[in-house]
Amino acid sequence: MLSGKLAVVTGGANGIGAATARLLAAKGASVAVFDREAPREDFGAHHFPVDVTSRESIDAAFAAAGTPDILMVNAGTAEEQDFLDHTAGLWERTLAVNLSGAFHTLQAAARLMKARRRGAIVITASTNSFDGEARLTAYNASKAGLLGLLHTTANELGPYRIRVNAVCPGLIRTRLTEAQFSNPDLLREYFRHIPLGRGGRPEEVAQACVFLASDEASYITGATLCVDGGQMAGKFGTWTESRAEFSQGEWRLR
Ligand SMILES: NC(=O)c1ccc[n+]([C@@H]2O[C@H](COP(=O)([O-])OP(=O)(O)OC[C@H]3O[C@@H](n4cnc5c(N)ncnc54)[C@H](O)[C@@H]3O)[C@@H](O)[C@H]2O)c1
Repeated sequence: MLSGKLAVVTGGANGIGAATARLLAAKGASVAVFDREAPREDFGAHHFPVDVTSRESIDAAFAAAGTPDILMVNAGTAEEQDFLDHTAGLWERTLAVNLSGAFHTLQAAARLMKARRRGAIVITASTNSFDGEARLTAYNASKAGLLGLLHTTANELGPYRIRVNAVCPGLIRTRLTEAQFSNPDLLREYFRHIPLGRGGRPEEVAQACVFLASDEASYITGATLCVDGGQMAGKFGTWTESRAEFSQGEWRLR
């Protein structure tokens, strides 16, 4: 289905990016992983050591990898700190990777795609693009900023037949969220607010990313697709002990 296509995945060495890179490869794409770290398993992807905070590093990798048909703008980082204690360093580090890194990656790729008059770009935003989860000021601001990047680039790149969309994952089990997933009391309360009663797997986000990048999404651009078990659809919580129980990391009806 994707044979003959080159897909670049930033942050493709771990978590959501790795699952997406693996799925793209399974569907026949040639996959280039742009990451500071090397992929943990060999599924045929080519690794380019890239730091997305450096435009030179991004440009050099595209010069070596070639013009992508598909770009996953996914590299990201998150650190918790109370707003009043947020340091300038934490703010700048987070914005440099999550927002400026996305700008540079997307612009470098779009300049190449423009000549071909086609391309599909998927940004990994977040449910935090919409909501202000406490202790994540810099992260939330970076993810909200990605929506500005999404809407503007979808607008400007549409004439070149380049589509730009975003996935907005909820709580997905990766190393970024290992602290939450190893705390059952926290999960019980968190997942009360998730209609599907559980956290997500990287592979479930990868399916949405690959759909948005594929020709099946040919008339979709500028869209955000939440992959969050319904978290953004509710307000006052779904699950109570009166009809359900929380065990093995998920809520189930009795
Ligand atoms: N896990 C979640 O619950 C969740 C929810 C919403 C959004 N996200 C977003 O999904 C994306 C992937 O996160 P994940 O959970 O898979 O985390 P992860 O830590 O497993 O993977 C992130 C990847 O990005 C790479 N990376 C970080 N800084 C980089 C840099 N400067 N240059 C190049 N590569 C860099 C890391 O090496 C790593 O491979 C991030 O943008 C994150 O904000 C995650």
